[in-house]
Amino acid sequence: MNTAPLSRNGSFTLRVNVGEQCQYDCGYCRPGLVRAPTGAAKRVQPTEYARLARLFGSLGVKKVRFTGGEPLLRPDFREVVAAFHGALPGATLALTTNGQRLEALLDAPPPGLGAVTVHVDSLQPERYRRLMGEGDVRAVLASVVRARELGFATKLNVVVQRGLNDDELPDFLAWSRRADIEVRFIELMNTGSASEFTRAHFFSGAEVVSRLGATQLGRKSAADPACLFRAADGTVFGLIASDTAPFCADCARLRLSADGRLRGCLYEPEGAPLIGLLREGASDAMLGALMKRNVAAKQSHHPSLALPRGQFSMADLGG
Ligand code: 5AD
Repeated sequence: MNTAPLSRNGSFTLRVNVGEQCQYDCGYCRPGLVRAPTGAAKRVQPTEYARLARLFGSLGVKKVRFTGGEPLLRPDFREVVAAFHGALPGATLALTTNGQRLEALLDAPPPGLGAVTVHVDSLQPERYRRLMGEGDVRAVLASVVRARELGFATKLNVVVQRGLNDDELPDFLAWSRRADIEVRFIELMNTGSASEFTRAHFFSGAEVVSRLGATQLGRKSAADPACLFRAADGTVFGLIASDTAPFCADCARLRLSADGRLRGCLYEPEGAPLIGLLREGASDAMLGALMKRNVAAKQSHHPSLALPRGQFSMADLGG
């Protein structure tokens, strides 16, 4: 384990996995395969989120991203957002979604939500269904465009997979230019739950750059996992190369799992059982102290720097 303290400026992004379930079955994720999803009653509830959010605010959390699984499968998603907005009115609230239910959300967006990132691994309807599952990519893309028109900060995430969608890199750039929406290419990460798939389809960030004849522009901010590049055709895109170019030293992310455990690193095995303590009657002072200890001890458990941890799926921890 790398025990060097991580540098950051005291401002954190909290990634909240509101539930591990997902309609899709992407080859690298497969929610539910490693761990059964947290049952609805066991999940962190909106009133509990409100209480934790205030404490997270005093720790320096300035941005909250709702992830999963698929956040919009949670029937009380609006109340979850409202809990954070009420407790942290100044925070940026963002959503990462597969977009299947985005259209309905946009009919009455929850107050406070400012940013939407949608995950799409292929622009080709048939291939999209093969790689991800039953869904209509044209409808999803239409929702992304509508989100942008409504004023949300909008991005499209693509996990690049050799032999499955790497031939679509220029098509994604063309879409990005037309829609004026940033596309971020994500390097496939081996989380242990789909090692064979990851080995077979890994496509490095460096290959994305050379395939697109891109030049590096840099990160918008030090803590941003994506580095920006300009492709030969002029399109600017983001690249998240977690394994070949780890950004642990600048990581400012904290993670709250659906069952209420706080982690300072995606690869951290156990995490601090915040909700367990809250439900046992812990005071704000006790919860705050535990959070503070966890944040002070935040360090990288990234496998390139540490011993490998047990298997997990991104759906368990929230990407
Ligand atoms: N490797 C890379 N990206 C992944 N994601 C989920 N699993 C993996 C993986 N094994 C993506 C999500 C989302 C982002 C948070 O990470 O689909 O776009």
